Amino acid sequence: MPVLTNIGALARCVRSAPAGDAGVVEGAALVWDGATIRWAGPAADLPGEFSGWPSEDAGGRLVVPGLVDCHTHLAFAGWRSDEFALRLMGATYLDIAAAGGGIASTVAKTRAASTEYLTARCRAHLAEMASLGVTTVEAKSGYGLNVEHELRLLGIYRSLATGPQRILGTLLAAHVIPPEYRDRRSEYVDLIEQELIPRVAREGLARFCDVFVEESAFTVEEARRILLAGKRHGLAPKLHADQLTSGGGGELAAEVGAASADHLERISEAGIRAMAAAGVVAVSLPFASLYLGVMPLPARRLLNAGVPVAVATDFNPGSAPSYHLPVAMTLACTIQRMTPAEALRGATVVAARALQLDWEIGSLEPGKSADFAVIDSDSVDHWLYHLRPNACVRTVAKGRDIWRSAPVS
Ligand code: NIG
Ligand code: FE
Repeated sequence: MPVLTNIGALARCVRSAPAGDAGVVEGAALVWDGATIRWAGPAADLPGEFSGWPSEDAGGRLVVPGLVDCHTHLAFAGWRSDEFALRLMGATYLDIAAAGGGIASTVAKTRAASTEYLTARCRAHLAEMASLGVTTVEAKSGYGLNVEHELRLLGIYRSLATGPQRILGTLLAAHVIPPEYRDRRSEYVDLIEQELIPRVAREGLARFCDVFVEESAFTVEEARRILLAGKRHGLAPKLHADQLTSGGGGELAAEVGAASADHLERISEAGIRAMAAAGVVAVSLPFASLYLGVMPLPARRLLNAGVPVAVATDFNPGSAPSYHLPVAMTLACTIQRMTPAEALRGATVVAARALQLDWEIGSLEPGKSADFAVIDSDSVDHWLYHLRPNACVRTVAKGRDIWRSAPVS
């Protein structure tokens, strides 16, 4: 039952506050009991009932909600640095995909890798994410692309979800058409709809069903069928939409009541209006925009229209080979013109909403999960402006330390 005192700035990210309000309290204290926050506010107002509780000193630092990475492709084998170099020479993401590279090459390597190897790699990535302040990670399948391997990837996520760091699985069997179905794509859509979705739902392997809507992947009609089938089985819809071409993804997200639509670099005005009206979260993925050299999503237009904008890494071996969420937040500021407060809300309470978990995580309010990070900085602005390898000195998830930096002597 500890009390964290001497918090220089406590960014509460109150769920009901506006997009630009990080809910900062200076000179604050935070109280938690087991896995649950009991109190958060100015230290001077700390209720007497907590005065005898063991206290810990935050050293005047910044404390933020545990970061929520609401879009990753965590489990894969190999990397694709060769394609990085090819793209720098002028090849496009779609050229590389059409030549059999891209996602299909990671699928081949992932299918060939052992479950132990993939699990160990995920575990190593998750540990580094914890060191950056990340307490919740959404993790997609999508490099298996058949029943056996998609279930295997989701099973790996479930096996990793036993500690305090939360891991939420998403079925992304509709990532691309697998090579063996190239000439019979409707059979692959049938397989997802009739076999994979019911099994994933029955075995409780995922909360979400995602579709990559793109020229090189799935059409709006195919996506609608898959997402509605997922919904019938209790899997909330998510979309990779309007990334490389504008294809009505935002509109489809609104139509099916998606938890989020992600990427959106090329979203149309009609798509923005539809998402705002339907309350769909836009997930911005600044690493993918940066690595593919495309214009980022129009964050200001989305925010002005009333669409909540989350920030995530999209960690994958092709378009976003990094799980450094704080750097993605800085990029959300510099290339998407979000304020540091908006970027912090985007990687906490708004990201939690994209995972339909904002009632439980993403803000520092009584009753919510005791998930937070202690940042060696005095303000949100300074943290996201002064780019350091890692400013996070302590990460707590469900009231338990999942990372602490070595004490400075
Ligand atoms: O979110 N857009 C589709 N999927 C990933 C890329 C995956 C890959 O290139 O391996 C993305 O950018
Ligand atoms: Fe993605």
